[in-house]
Amino acid sequence: MCGIVGYVGKQKAAPLILEGLKRLEYRGYDSAGVCVAQGGQLEVVKKAGRVEILAKEVAVHRLAGTTGIGHTRWATHGGVTDANAHPHLSSDGKFALIHNGVIENYAQMKTFLARRGFTFQSETDTEVLCNLIAYHYGKEPAAPGQSRFLESVRKSLRHVEGTYGIAVLCLDAPGEIVAARLASPLILGVGDGEFILASDASALVSHTQNVVYLKDGELAHVTPRGFALSTLDDVDVSPVVDRITWSAADADRGKFPHFMLKEIFEQPAALENAMRGRFSADGSTANFGGLNITADELARVERFMFCACGTAWHACLVTEHLIERFARVPVEVDYASEFRYRNSPLDPHTLFFVISQSGETIDTLAALREAKRKGHRVLAINNAVGSSIAREADGGIYQHVGPEIGVASTKAFTSQLLLGAMIALYVARLRDLSFNDGVEYVNALKSAPDLVRQVLKQAPRIKAIAKRYAQSRDMLFLGRLALFPLALEGALKLKEISYIHAEGYPAAEMKHGPIALISEHCPTVFFAPKGELFNKLVSSMQEIKARKGPIIAIVTEGADLPKGLANEVITLPACHEAVLPIVASIPVQLLSYYIAVERGCDVDKPRNLAKSVTVE
Ligand code: AGP
Repeated sequence: MCGIVGYVGKQKAAPLILEGLKRLEYRGYDSAGVCVAQGGQLEVVKKAGRVEILAKEVAVHRLAGTTGIGHTRWATHGGVTDANAHPHLSSDGKFALIHNGVIENYAQMKTFLARRGFTFQSETDTEVLCNLIAYHYGKEPAAPGQSRFLESVRKSLRHVEGTYGIAVLCLDAPGEIVAARLASPLILGVGDGEFILASDASALVSHTQNVVYLKDGELAHVTPRGFALSTLDDVDVSPVVDRITWSAADADRGKFPHFMLKEIFEQPAALENAMRGRFSADGSTANFGGLNITADELARVERFMFCACGTAWHACLVTEHLIERFARVPVEVDYASEFRYRNSPLDPHTLFFVISQSGETIDTLAALREAKRKGHRVLAINNAVGSSIAREADGGIYQHVGPEIGVASTKAFTSQLLLGAMIALYVARLRDLSFNDGVEYVNALKSAPDLVRQVLKQAPRIKAIAKRYAQSRDMLFLGRLALFPLALEGALKLKEISYIHAEGYPAAEMKHGPIALISEHCPTVFFAPKGELFNKLVSSMQEIKARKGPIIAIVTEGADLPKGLANEVITLPACHEAVLPIVASIPVQLLSYYIAVERGCDVDKPRNLAKSVTVE
């Protein structure tokens, strides 16, 4: 969740670190801090609040050192205060540490260290680890040829239960950083005579596109002369240098006021990128290069299991609907956070999928590991190349939509819907879906970017609708079949960025409880596409109307609502069932966005949230 940056090189470290922290702020924005090694000191500047507050504070300090670390915090242990901000210093002042993750056994360590004279300025688990490193450093010198700094970090980490991505500075080795990871992402950018550590590629891509993805249990010892990787058990690791395929411009806001709006408008291109090269030459099915499962094996699958969190979980639900509808194979969907502890019985013919934009969501990663532990092959739909999930899955599909910075997922979600629809098609064609139906399905998917473009043109109208409902306290979102998950997604999007209480339900469930909420003050966003259930949807709307509930109807062309039934009507182009969830996502994304802006909310950095949830 937190953002980490470290720099070793010839340039002044502080400006570079601040630039990286600004790019990482979406990972946590409770507080920020920087530490630079200079003049025989570890100079720390840290403040509660956003990176811009830290930048003002840094400007009055003369931070000229060329080695440093910086951090944006999403609070776990201890409140949002200057003292709890990272970096933390050991009580002897010899070490500075930044940390992303949770040290579960920090209380025992703290007691142990306090008895030996170490003192603590904060309530954080991180400060405890920093002092543990100081303890090991003071205890015994390293063997000849070994770095005492590196060895004290290694020894300390052997005692840690929990998760971490850390970067450490040592007063006695002022040009060096030791970094390590366990279940929290860490990347080392390899530049020309300089090295940049970061929890996310967006912090370093403007300096270098050559990166080493650290693996769990690995440590990096970075010096001005180079870097070396090793494990907690002190085994050397040969680094693999990968290349990031996107550039710094992809992670810029450009002319848009918010990343979320930029990413909403990027969706036509994102969908094109996600489907590029993934249809068969005869135009009747999908093709996936990296699934690592043969068509024969896939045809023998008797059941699918999908796990994810949040918005990605909604994508699983739509995929469930499409696989069952077109491929006629049963699908189960579970929250990753539940699956990991549920000890759910998994039939050997079940194929397990996880979906995750970041590829670092700890619950999804744990669900993947649990399924693998039970002997299952696990495939992943994932956006972030080189992420933990991408590396640990047995195969998968990259979303290829570029970095998603807005905390509220938009383009990643619709590309997950697209890839889910493509999996449904692929499996369906291995079973009974006819060639002609396959061609029709493929053509429909190919038309999705243009259909999305058409809906995006309605942004000014949706903005006007948003203004009329922006002061609501509650909102309901209703839909059926493949659009029921869209109701959940609409409600999630609205609450996370506008803080309006919202609920999503299958439309017909309304009368079993949520109808009690209906009043003239509680608008309902109602998905009512043309189709066999249209008349039933109209009946549900009548029940809302009878109770004076305002209705924002999202219909498809040709779905004629009785006059005056809905207060607002947003019309989507008529489209194939597999494409409808993608197209129907756009109005709810725009509605949430404009409502949040109207309420003066910080759309890209909603309160209490962080982009990638790497703690339980
Ligand atoms: C979406 O708007 C949310 N911010 C959140 O629910 C997110 O989808 C969830 O945390 C899963 O993230 P992932 O796709 O990176 O695993």
